[in-house]
Amino acid sequence: MNADSPPAPQKKTMSHESFHKFSKVLLTSFTVYFLLLTILFSVALITLFKKYSQLLEEKAIIKELNYTELECRKQHSLLKDKVWSCCPKDWKPFSSHCYFLSIDAASWSESEEKCSSTGAHLMVIHSQEEQDFITQILNPKAAYYIGLSDPGHRQWQWVDQTPYNESVTFWHRGEPSSDNKQCVILNHRYSRWGWNDIFCSDKQKSICQMKKIYL
Ligand SMILES: *[C@@H]1O[C@H](CO)[C@@H](O)[C@H](O)[C@H]1NC(C)=O
Ligand SMILES: *[C@@H]1O[C@H](CO)[C@@H](O)[C@H](O)[C@H]1NC(C)=O
Repeated sequence: MNADSPPAPQKKTMSHESFHKFSKVLLTSFTVYFLLLTILFSVALITLFKKYSQLLEEKAIIKELNYTELECRKQHSLLKDKVWSCCPKDWKPFSSHCYFLSIDAASWSESEEKCSSTGAHLMVIHSQEEQDFITQILNPKAAYYIGLSDPGHRQWQWVDQTPYNESVTFWHRGEPSSDNKQCVILNHRYSRWGWNDIFCSDKQKSICQMKKIYL
């Protein structure tokens, strides 16, 4: 009996060891599997969350803007995620902005208020291209307020705090003409479009401008 018994425990030990090994492999593969699942799940969750928050953001933008209709164009730009560039219906798109011609005559500050109420401001002219774009769609018989004014001492200021750059100005010859005329219109004179300083209380048409909406 004593001679027979030793093999049994040895066999038992071996099987125990191999079981130990087996369970170790099993545990490792489970761990790896579980980790992979966790990673996949996290990625899926993050993607979903991003999409969802983007959706919420778009909804918030549209709600805040309160336009009944947007006109969007597919764009191929560097702006990630945002595929559409939009302007409210009846606004004209150019570069990164939208423009609206207000044909109601009003003082400069009333005009600016009207623009603000739609989330825009009186037009700021940043370049020759922008000046050329806008003058193409204006009526040469009318004059339009732009977002340039002088709070005093001939310190011209744009409504959106864009620095006033002397080398990107389009004053008519002989303008600005009077220190009391502290607001600026765009009008057609001597067969060219240019800027003219006038009294801020004068009632004129105006041009509103806002950044394009990217969705
Ligand atoms: C949205 O526009 C309508 C029509 O212009 C106006 O009556 C309403 O008060 C506006 N709502 C907000 C939140 O601005
Ligand atoms: C003014 O505009 C010109 C022409 O675009 C530009 O070269 C210059 O750097 C600008 N100056 C300032 C102070 O922004």
